[in-house]
Amino acid sequence: MSRSAPVVPACALALLTLASTACGGGVVGTPGGSGLGDPYFPKAGNDGYDVTHYGLTLDYVPETEHLTGTAEITATATQDLSALNLDFEGLDVESVTVDTERARWNRTGQELTVRPPHDLDDQDTFRITVRYSGTPETITDPDGSEEGWLPTEDGALALGEPTGSMAWFPGNHHPSDKAAYDIEVTVPKGLHAVSNGELTNETTRDGRTTFTWHSAEPMPSHAATLAVGRYDISRTTVADDLPAYTAVDPRQTKASREVLGRLPEIMEWAEDNFGPYPFSSTGAIIEREDDTDYALETQNRPVFPGAPDTELLVHELAHQWYGDSVSPKTWRDMWLNEGFATYAEWLWQEDHDGESAQEIFDQLYAGDYYDDPEDNEAIWAFPPGKPTDAAHISDPPVYVRGAMVLHKIRETVGDDTFYEIIQGWAATHRHGNADTDDFTAYVERQAPDQDFTPVWEEWLYGEGRPDQP
Ligand code: TRP
Ligand code: ZN
Repeated sequence: MSRSAPVVPACALALLTLASTACGGGVVGTPGGSGLGDPYFPKAGNDGYDVTHYGLTLDYVPETEHLTGTAEITATATQDLSALNLDFEGLDVESVTVDTERARWNRTGQELTVRPPHDLDDQDTFRITVRYSGTPETITDPDGSEEGWLPTEDGALALGEPTGSMAWFPGNHHPSDKAAYDIEVTVPKGLHAVSNGELTNETTRDGRTTFTWHSAEPMPSHAATLAVGRYDISRTTVADDLPAYTAVDPRQTKASREVLGRLPEIMEWAEDNFGPYPFSSTGAIIEREDDTDYALETQNRPVFPGAPDTELLVHELAHQWYGDSVSPKTWRDMWLNEGFATYAEWLWQEDHDGESAQEIFDQLYAGDYYDDPEDNEAIWAFPPGKPTDAAHISDPPVYVRGAMVLHKIRETVGDDTFYEIIQGWAATHRHGNADTDDFTAYVERQAPDQDFTPVWEEWLYGEGRPDQP
């Protein structure tokens, strides 16, 4: 993969080509790679270091769409490094320092290559500071959906799944490198800046308000968000004194009241089913319907385009356990996010006088769940464990057939073991990363007497609709 640097004789080319930089000195570190070998997004993330903390200081002026930012990235080298990459799309870089020294840098596509004046040694902890500004870009995903920086009528919204976060801060943008965050955002007085974690400070000076957000628990960068605009804010506590912060576009307040009123009940139900909530606060951000194409499980407080229905709120809150706390190792493992969040909707309905998960499963298998026959057919397009390509990681097989895989496990092991499995999975990989092999191995360990071969071969990895329901 990315480590096979080409052999280039001239020192002058070393930076550009990322070749070994053993020029004019002893044999030294090699550059970190420009990707992490993700099978679906090869350029996402970077090799050679591990970020532990992002400190973002941002200033946004909605009128001009101008963002000024400083990203302080604390990381540990995982090899001797002569250079390393960050993912960063658009915006203008003004300066880069590594620890206290100015660093050379250059940009190619989404890769910002930083070359510190001195090599970094394996296991060194270092801090990269990137100063930048400009109008952030909206990124179009391989599947045509839009993310990154989305200007809205009264501000902007930053969404990151799968690759949008590189539009508003430089980083190691892959879910396998999670980190803590402190995000400080200054906006014109009267607007709010809402992000992940807990609001620790809010100060207005000279007509501008600074909001300071703290996320102690590790977060995959695609779950980072920033919402700037006019919001009705509510601060309460739910469940066992867990702080809840909701920000609702004033035009959505009425439509959102009832569903947000169920937040405490959903959180309690979710803890009963999935185990202890993994973060220090909860909430929601509700934008206008056309501000974004999709809802997203941004950490602590998911983002919704307009008032969600109860199932969608359940879905995004379930992602806090499955997706945000237990994050996929690669984008191929997306069904571990979406299959669980979809199955959470089914469990919610089953527990609240709706259809049972079995009934939903049966209708899906029979092809009469949706009104449109094409929707019924779409869930069989490819196996959930192996999406066709990057343009299909958010397609129906990942969500719906992924949920059907979980239902097959439940059918195989019975309810008691099934709930132990979904809670144990969340506990075992809390604040970590896991892939599909980790999951199948975990399930087999929890129910050693069962044969899961048909579930894996036909439901998780098989092409087309399995012969048996
Ligand atoms: N993961 C989101 C959810 O299920 C949806 C989502 C994020 C999405 N990015 C996407 C859907 C891109 C389609 C395309 O809540
Ligand atoms: Zn989802």
